[in-house]
Amino acid sequence: MLFHAFKSLIIGLALGTSTVLAQTSSHALVSRRLTEYLMPVAVQTHEFARVPNTNFMLMTQMSDSELIKIELDVKTEEPIAYHSFRMGKNSTTSMLHGVWPSTVYPGLVWLSLQGDSKLLLVDPGKTLSAAPIIKKSINIPSPGNGPHCVFEIGNQVWAGLKVATEQTGKYYVFSADVHNSTNYHMYTALNSPVFIAKEPTTGLIYVTQDTDSSIMRINTTSGDTTQMHIPPSVGNTAVGMISATGPLSGVWFTLAGNSTGGTGTFGHIGASGKMEFFKLKKPQLGTNAGLLHIADASTSAGPALWLLSTSLLSTNSEDALIRVTFNDDITSVDEEEYIAMLT
Ligand SMILES: *[C@@H]1O[C@H](CO)[C@@H](O)[C@H](O)[C@H]1NC(C)=O
Ligand SMILES: *[C@@H]1O[C@H](CO)[C@@H](O)[C@H](O)[C@H]1NC(C)=O
Ligand SMILES: *[C@@H]1O[C@H](CO)[C@@H](O)[C@H](O)[C@H]1NC(C)=O
Ligand SMILES: *[C@@H]1O[C@H](CO)[C@@H](O)[C@H](O)[C@H]1NC(C)=O
Repeated sequence: MLFHAFKSLIIGLALGTSTVLAQTSSHALVSRRLTEYLMPVAVQTHEFARVPNTNFMLMTQMSDSELIKIELDVKTEEPIAYHSFRMGKNSTTSMLHGVWPSTVYPGLVWLSLQGDSKLLLVDPGKTLSAAPIIKKSINIPSPGNGPHCVFEIGNQVWAGLKVATEQTGKYYVFSADVHNSTNYHMYTALNSPVFIAKEPTTGLIYVTQDTDSSIMRINTTSGDTTQMHIPPSVGNTAVGMISATGPLSGVWFTLAGNSTGGTGTFGHIGASGKMEFFKLKKPQLGTNAGLLHIADASTSAGPALWLLSTSLLSTNSEDALIRVTFNDDITSVDEEEYIAMLT
């Protein structure tokens, strides 16, 4: 399981560009500003989601099963206040983990309680101190156990089940109709499913499995699953995964590495279904990066990705936020920008 024992801090990133009238030797200054915000102390701070069309963000803390509602300044979007709420029946065993805003039910969010083996659909409440209201509760059916991250893809809610079940000793990926959770599927996975994303062209679902270092492909029409193992020569521990459209079309995933460090490698699967790997080039910071999470960083200037390197699995990898751009046909990394984490 991937977590850090640390002072609970969250980091905000702002990009500023100041425009000046250009003389031949003058250049506009571009700046990055990282700000840390102190959160309630917890061993495991996990996931974030913005509640659409509100000035609230939600953050999960797994070790004490607390949902932190963070109010953002309407103009600057800077965090200004928080209120925390215990989710689940027991703060030490319920293990709140995933948070994902629903599109089918606008304004509501999905949460996962790994310890209680439940998915919840909640109304986070209109004000900072309003307690979340549970609208729907889905018990993960046997033999599934321990939903980790939760996703809504089309009319299905998905969760990777992180805990080997007592009945079969196996790991599963769970999906259910958001309107009728008795209409569900359980796909046998490897150890153990983390992120789930849909490849936009083919509609195939891809799942990262961290410990066994493999990507699972699911055809939801036929129910067929395939395992695509990460070649050890490239790296290992597939964790973060996103779905992207436009020039980056496909799913993108990260490799977090192992106890000897990361390999600065991330991957792409497009409509062809083939894994393609991309490598950071900067010595030490890039080539050893243990890439845990990934996000789209595209702007009007072109396609780009954010990558988060972690020292979680090895101190040979740095804690850093990395922004990469690509060559024209998206076959290799062009520019790499490195931002060291403050703490
Ligand atoms: C929560 O679970 C722990 C560990 O199983 C147990 O010791 C404790 O009594 C439980 N607390 C409540 C309020 O049920
Ligand atoms: C919900 O799904 C189950 C299982 O597929 C099915 O038997 C049942 O008829 C469905 N209920 C409704 C209201 O559609
Ligand atoms: C998924 O399975 C269905 C049914 O077997 C098949 O028709 C379809 O081509 C498959 N999709 C992909 C993208 O392979
Ligand atoms: C760590 O990963 C690298 C790259 O895949 C591999 O060469 C090495 O054998 C692995 N080390 C351990 C201890 O598993």
